[in-house]
Amino acid sequence: MPGKVFIVGAGPGKRDLLTLKALKVIMEADVILYDDLIGEVVDLLKETKAQLISVGKRKGVHKFEQEEINKMLSELAKKGKKVVRLKGGDPFVFGRGGEEIEYLAKEGIEFEYVPGITSAIAVPGAAGIPVTHRNFDPAVVFITGHESKSRLNWEALAKLNATIVVLMGLSNIENICKNLIQHGKDPETPVAVIEKGFYQEQRVIEGNLSNIAEKVREENVSPPAVIVIGKVVEIRERVKNFPK
Ligand SMILES: C[S@@+](CC[C@H](N)C(=O)[O-])C[C@H]1O[C@@H](n2cnc3c(N)ncnc32)[C@H](O)[C@@H]1O
Repeated sequence: MPGKVFIVGAGPGKRDLLTLKALKVIMEADVILYDDLIGEVVDLLKETKAQLISVGKRKGVHKFEQEEINKMLSELAKKGKKVVRLKGGDPFVFGRGGEEIEYLAKEGIEFEYVPGITSAIAVPGAAGIPVTHRNFDPAVVFITGHESKSRLNWEALAKLNATIVVLMGLSNIENICKNLIQHGKDPETPVAVIEKGFYQEQRVIEGNLSNIAEKVREENVSPPAVIVIGKVVEIRERVKNFPK
């Protein structure tokens, strides 16, 4: 009997923020291929009967190319295994889950998507920043910091009255802020950088478009971090002293 691949989101790294479905498929898996940014969920994996394969990055370099991961998923499923492909947050938000399901479909492998709570929404939330609020921008845009030059329409982005949430943007924060200011966004626009959201070491650095890059440098902020740009950041000031 052919197996099946579950493309599973681990959420923002806390065991109790996994979905019930994610927990079920993890506990029933024969093999789990997992990424780095899954926080304490990695300890849960050790409690399963599954073969564990870490396919995340080591020192910023991918241990396996995406093509190799695709092949592993497909070959394991062809051997009849129940395979879990576990990713941080949601698999379809800057998580390459889309590439994996395309490959599996091409190979005729059965797969199922198990959503996870994305860090793009949950990490700002953990810092007291709701990504939307009725009194502020009526839209929210998620961007990757890796694309800062090539494909993004900065002019449109700067003009859009939307909260901007940047993933993988830390090393490029200076350019991101410069681009937005150059294309007309108010340099005073509030910005928050949330480092290691939901982890014990979570930190929040606040500033605005014109000074946040310097603050991030001074505070030695390191990945993973989510950057939130927009007036919603101001809400944090009103709620941050309340208990979790
Ligand atoms: C490759 S993307 C994957 C995103 C993931 N699929 C999701 O939905 O959250 C990795 C980026 O997610 C963000 N991220 C993930 N977990 C985080 C956390 N616990 N704290 C801060 N940022 C996090 C960072 O911007 C990081 O560079």
